Amino acid sequence: MTCCTMSRRFAPQFIVLPDRTAAASVAARLVLDTVEHQPRCVLGLATGETMCPVYDAIAQGMQARRLSFAGATSFNLDTYVGLAPDHPASFVTVMAQHLFSRIDLPADQRHLPDGMAQDIAASAARYETAIAEAGGIDLQLLGIGRNGHIAFNEPGSPFVSRTRVVELTPTSREPLRSLFAPSEPPTHGLTVGIATILAARRIVLVAFGAAKASPLASAFRGPPDESLPASALQLHPDVTVICDEAAAAGW
Ligand code: GLP
Repeated sequence: MTCCTMSRRFAPQFIVLPDRTAAASVAARLVLDTVEHQPRCVLGLATGETMCPVYDAIAQGMQARRLSFAGATSFNLDTYVGLAPDHPASFVTVMAQHLFSRIDLPADQRHLPDGMAQDIAASAARYETAIAEAGGIDLQLLGIGRNGHIAFNEPGSPFVSRTRVVELTPTSREPLRSLFAPSEPPTHGLTVGIATILAARRIVLVAFGAAKASPLASAFRGPPDESLPASALQLHPDVTVICDEAAAAGW
């Protein structure tokens, strides 16, 4: 469904670097600059392979620039429903390995949606309240899925959506097979909504590799359309896209 035809559309700032290491270091620099200028900032964090070199560069840059995350707060985008936090593929484990064990962000200032909650709808509502009470997200890091999803907002997600449970599509589950083998990948995610993402003051979308060229180009080409979740980013006035040459190929 084409949406928000009356809403203003914005062009993102588009930064292309020769490779993913260079691109990751630019994305990390934006996060580190935010922490430096606004020590009590609220960061929106993402998972996925794309974020690994970004988190490496953040950890290295924190040391090199002698910065501290002690005053910052973070909110992750999403989690798997029903997956124990100590599972090797859970986003709690992944965030600990790639970022939280390497920076001084206090444990009680890191937030992930709770995919194990008994009352998951109530837990989703509390997550939205916690973001609002923290003052909203200052900088949201984002990746993009091969089908144009952002967080776990799959094609068809309403642009007005907030934190909720969603069913993962086969396209999104396929790349997860090796992580979960011999079990099946999770079927559902608990994710912030598209409206939650658009409420961030600044959005930094990072994309690497040829598989991202088509969804990335499509997201900013036509009018915003709920069949392509990342196209909602056109409705935000402060989006920076940072990618390598392979991901920029369709632009
Ligand atoms: C997952 C995450 C997204 C991420 C996407 C792309 O579905 N929920 O937040 O952007 O995958 O992941 P990758 O960076 O591994 O390509």
